[in-house]
Amino acid sequence: MMTKVEKAGDAVLDEAAELLKQGGIAAVPTETVYGLAANAYDVEAVRSVFRAKGRPQDNPLILHICGMTMLEDIAAEVPELARTLAENFWPGPLTMIFARKAHVPAETCGGLDTAAVRMPNNRFTLKLIERCGFPLAAPSANTSGKPSPTTAAHVLADMDGKIPLVIDGGECRFGVESTVISFDDEDTVRILRPGAVTPEMLREYCHVTIDGGVLAKLAPDAVVHSPGMKYKHYSPEAEVYILKGGDVSVENFMRRHADAGFLGNGKEDMPESVRRFPYGGTSAQQAENLFASLRKADEAGCREVYVRMPDTDGIGLAVYNRLLRSAGFRIISAEDDDAVR
Ligand code: TXA
Ligand code: MG
Repeated sequence: MMTKVEKAGDAVLDEAAELLKQGGIAAVPTETVYGLAANAYDVEAVRSVFRAKGRPQDNPLILHICGMTMLEDIAAEVPELARTLAENFWPGPLTMIFARKAHVPAETCGGLDTAAVRMPNNRFTLKLIERCGFPLAAPSANTSGKPSPTTAAHVLADMDGKIPLVIDGGECRFGVESTVISFDDEDTVRILRPGAVTPEMLREYCHVTIDGGVLAKLAPDAVVHSPGMKYKHYSPEAEVYILKGGDVSVENFMRRHADAGFLGNGKEDMPESVRRFPYGGTSAQQAENLFASLRKADEAGCREVYVRMPDTDGIGLAVYNRLLRSAGFRIISAEDDDAVR
């Protein structure tokens, strides 16, 4: 299959909408990461998305909507709190989980009786959903297990020859996927996946519980509130490690691992041989750069990549959550390593 890349804009709206109406799939930009979109109500189209990604059948997709009437069409019941959060955070990087209506295909929702819904904050993609008249089921547009794509080039690296169309909307603003929440009771939400809508932001409106699966490896017998928590994620070919410690210890450590890749705050003094990739000193920069830099480290042929321990405030919690999975929960202390020597 030939994969066409088109710039996001009115010129390609009709073509993209037509493709999706006929059961085709297309990669589309959002403010978080690129999504691989299909008509959420078309079981065959949804199956093509699972196939193109190599995604496990029981990992449900997010339904992307352009207005509240679409939500009413999906959700069996919309809690008052969800309406408040929608008013304040939609369109934006917040996904909410609802009991679903019977006509929403089980395949779209990984066989669950709930559906995850979000209104993305991207002009083109909102228009496209409106033009289609149905919600777009869209997981991140990467091969299952790989880092999520934040540019059209990343999408192409994984999907070339597998999908007919990639809409290029430039670099994604946030760089990490949306915050996923469910409702524990009328005034408590549970964060299943942290994102740019932070616990601090949600606490303005309700109590917030952070699910145990966000920062810890799930025990084999644990209750899984979101199937995505079970799977290997965001993993480049390189072995990723989280590196704890102050600047000096980290510099010493990298001198001892001088042909590895490194993601740091940009201020560390490193030998030339260390291959540095953009990361940054703020959580927002780290969110923006993380996935792109893990992909770059692979392109550079790094076998090991060390990433400095992020701050976990704000969007930093999302950075840490993704990084823990990329690294298979491996955290190394540069200080301990110094002490051993
Ligand atoms: O920012 C985003 O959310 C991006 C863009 C494209 O919108 N999409 C995205 O989709 O990250 P995906 O499929 O890569 O991740 C969806 C996550 C998975 O962890 C999945 O398990 C969880 O949401 N999820 C979806 N439906 C769910 C449900 N009904 N109950 C619990 N978790 C659900
Ligand atoms: Mg994903």
